[in-house]
Amino acid sequence: MNVGHPEIDADHRYLIHLINTVELVLRFPENPEHMKLAFDELEHYAAEHFAREEKIQISWGYSHYDEHQQEHRRLLESLSLLRRMMEKAMAETSPPADALREHSGYVTDFLRKWLVDHVMKTDLKMIDLFKGRKVF
Ligand SMILES: [Fe+2]
Repeated sequence: MNVGHPEIDADHRYLIHLINTVELVLRFPENPEHMKLAFDELEHYAAEHFAREEKIQISWGYSHYDEHQQEHRRLLESLSLLRRMMEKAMAETSPPADALREHSGYVTDFLRKWLVDHVMKTDLKMIDLFKGRKVF
């Protein structure tokens, strides 16, 4: 999944770690508050990462910057929608942890696809941008 830029690749690895954390919380929802914390961190870091990646694209004169930026926006919107869906399910379920267990499979599949699809289909197009050039 490496695009060849150390900062971007490190961010992607950290995003995988954050998704794994959400998955763990969903599988073992002892405290539903943990879901909010895990999602907070994922949403916050995803926004930070996308901004960082876009900045790198601008400084390297990336030709697909506009469509890439639009995709980042859509990804953040879908993440926020997923979070709202989970919060609604928790508010309507007693105990709320049951909602986390019930939707665990869906959320896990969604998040893995959310990140992997973007990295594999869109981010990897940046490989040529960094190939054979001194990144740092
Ligand atoms: Fe990206």
